[in-house]
Amino acid sequence: MIELPTLEAYLAAQADHAPTAETLLHIARACGEISRAVQLGAVGDHLGVAGVTNVQDEEQKKLDVLADDILGRALGACECVAGYASEEREHAHLTGRSGGVLVLFDPLDGSSNIDVNVSIGTIFSILPAPENETPTTESFLLPGRHQLAAGYAVYGPQTVLVLTVSAEVVAFTQDAAGIWRLTHDRLAVPAETGEFAINMSNERHWAEPIRQYIAGCLQGRDGVRGKDFNMRWVGSMVADVHRIMMRGGIFLYPWDARDPSRPGKLRLLYEAAPMALLIERAGGVAIDGERPLLDVTPTSLHQRVGVVLGSAAEVGHLAA
Ligand code: AHG
Ligand code: MN
Ligand code: MN
Repeated sequence: MIELPTLEAYLAAQADHAPTAETLLHIARACGEISRAVQLGAVGDHLGVAGVTNVQDEEQKKLDVLADDILGRALGACECVAGYASEEREHAHLTGRSGGVLVLFDPLDGSSNIDVNVSIGTIFSILPAPENETPTTESFLLPGRHQLAAGYAVYGPQTVLVLTVSAEVVAFTQDAAGIWRLTHDRLAVPAETGEFAINMSNERHWAEPIRQYIAGCLQGRDGVRGKDFNMRWVGSMVADVHRIMMRGGIFLYPWDARDPSRPGKLRLLYEAAPMALLIERAGGVAIDGERPLLDVTPTSLHQRVGVVLGSAAEVGHLAA
């Protein structure tokens, strides 16, 4: 095996970001623990439903609950964390500390893929906590542009941690001993792509601009776009975004008419904002359909949003 820099060494070099770096180490350790549970699957009795419904009115899987517990414990033990909020919990948890950071996370992304052994992941976002005062729920409601760091772990054929804590986006792969090793320096999303990701089964519910955009892709080289497209849809945002990080593409989960009052399916604070920071820092574009996702000011913790992100030229084509 080749000797590659560790996550600890990488973060130690980020001297300006000490509380963020310390928090990232706790999150990375938690992701390692979640990854071991994912790998055990049925042997560890980790598959199937937990028998409870979360605040999003979604049936929780055992792994949703376990991953949420693991992250909650890890962040509770981190001296830099003043509070955290999870997709799986109705209310933010305040640790009683002030200063430092706030963390938001989707403990297990891609829950419908757990029992069928398809890639799943964890998504996280780190925000500054208010200085010299105890945070409240409102303290978490900052536009994504304020994030100090963001990242995700993908539990796939390899366990990979992708994060941004400075201007660059980097990726670490877990080695056989569970140590995160720097394997991808300065990720860059290619500007051009011929690959799109959307749940086509919702086509009849889409708004006209999305319908027209996808129709153009489907026409291939004989149509308005003059080129052939390929389609991928994993059903785990984390895996779809990771593919785009590695080879480009466009991911769409737009507003649709199934529930017109709902701006989208994905959650702004736990999914859209952290992915938007990663994608922008890697040279891509992330919008809610019109505006940059990083400029959307949240009004509530579990707010949903439309998401279009990926290769700059392709997102630009849709937004034009
Ligand atoms: P979660 O498992 O955290 O609830 O998120 C699932 C999300 C996202 O990962 C994925 O892109 C999307 O739901 C898939 O939705 P559809 O089943 O509607 O395609
Ligand atoms: Mn999710
Ligand atoms: Mn989830």
